[in-house]
Amino acid sequence: MQVSFTRSAPVDTHADTVAIGVFDGKGVAHDTPGGELQALLDSGEAKTKFKHLAVTHAEGKRWIVAGLGDGERFDGERARVIAALAGERARELGAEELCWELPHDSDDHVAGGFVEGTVLGAYTFDRYKAKDPTNGGGIKKLCVSDHDDRAQTIAAAGIVAHATNAARDLQNVPANDMTPHALAARARELAGSEQGVSCEVMGRDEIVAAGMGMFGAVAQGTYAEPQLITLRYEGPDPDPAHPTLGLVGKAVTFDAGGISLKPALKMSEMKFDMSGGAAVIETIGAIARLALPLRVIGVVGATENLPSGRSMKPGDIVRAADGTSVEIINTDAEGRLVLGDCLVHARNQGAERLVDIATLTGGCVVALGSVHAGLMANDEDWAKAVDAAARASGELAWRLPLHEDYDEAIKSRYADIMNAVEDRKAAPITAAQFLARFAGDTPWAHLDIAGTAWNSGKPYSGKGGNGFGVRLMVELARSMAAR
Ligand code: BES
Ligand code: MN
Ligand code: ZN
Repeated sequence: MQVSFTRSAPVDTHADTVAIGVFDGKGVAHDTPGGELQALLDSGEAKTKFKHLAVTHAEGKRWIVAGLGDGERFDGERARVIAALAGERARELGAEELCWELPHDSDDHVAGGFVEGTVLGAYTFDRYKAKDPTNGGGIKKLCVSDHDDRAQTIAAAGIVAHATNAARDLQNVPANDMTPHALAARARELAGSEQGVSCEVMGRDEIVAAGMGMFGAVAQGTYAEPQLITLRYEGPDPDPAHPTLGLVGKAVTFDAGGISLKPALKMSEMKFDMSGGAAVIETIGAIARLALPLRVIGVVGATENLPSGRSMKPGDIVRAADGTSVEIINTDAEGRLVLGDCLVHARNQGAERLVDIATLTGGCVVALGSVHAGLMANDEDWAKAVDAAARASGELAWRLPLHEDYDEAIKSRYADIMNAVEDRKAAPITAAQFLARFAGDTPWAHLDIAGTAWNSGKPYSGKGGNGFGVRLMVELARSMAAR
């Protein structure tokens, strides 16, 4: 979808469909010359109640009057929701060019929210289906109209929303096609097309030779070549005082559990176990397109986790990149093995602030559902920065504690630490406590997105992969560039 901004009134644009919101207790800000919109409200057919939609025709266009509800409660999230709902209605009615009239005095989050909701809501994933002749292609152009110049905000929101949809594609493509190699190809493609981005990829032999024994152990069970993808972004005139941001993503392209095999129910969803890595790759794409003035390193650990005659076994002891010996208690706790070595790699590559993002534990789904990601951190200021980005972007995260007492739970009888605990106590936390060891003294935050990465039920991205983390991490990068 092409996204643009205009200071013209919607009536003067090429759009075939205009969407215009109304708050409780307010009338329409700019009516059609014939007063059709206010008439629709006065008749009761249009309502200001949040999410209510009504349609009329005037001036050769279709007009959607959208209820925005209480003006005090209206925020970026509500903008995304109403934009997705109005966009869906517009599409059903055959719209190809939609114009949103921004409510007066919208802040940037609200303005961007209308774009994000429209672009995310229009996402489809049907490349594996036979062509449906009744499917008319949908909205091709979105323009946003406002009195004030919002061109930058609108363009930026379009970039972030399209990057999010690109991450959704990576998530939704099944594991037979979205192999570690395919993820690396996408990272290389971004390096080829975006200013300031470069990419290096290590395969099995290099991963093992670099001493990443945890990553190597997960990858040894599959024929698929593992890929350690390192993306680098060097923005225009980065302030040398700004720390280098390191984004580390878990990309297990299929997690069968390994020898500690998962049950069959919903195992197909484990194609989404690469969601963290997908978010890191497309976040770096978005940061580059936004030309943010900072340095970012993206590290994505991509492999399958399968049972075979070569798989790691419960009881095996492997050595991490930093020399730590690790006993494998459960081969299904593979994410922390991959990420631990990736965190060490990111620090060696110069990352000075770390965020890792991973579909790490089923326990996080139980604890927080699909509303909040789990957030755990070793540094208060950094945790606050990540939480602020989460709130600003609407990709919410809720803090869970870390504490040295949890280290007791992952002490091994035979090695320095073990990768899982037999009981299920504090599963998201013990997983993070394992990772904390590899983050060392670098400020680090861990996002467990096991519950938020797919089927989150949001009106704008509820089904399948939703690209969770792209908006949050772009916002975090922005806040670092602004400082
Ligand atoms: N990828 C899974 C976590 C997961 C489960 C994400 C369900 C989304 C939905 C992860 O690799 C895993 O298997 N974790 C185990 C860890 C346990 C063995 C310590 C889990 O959470 O059960
Ligand atoms: Mn697993
Ligand atoms: Zn996993």
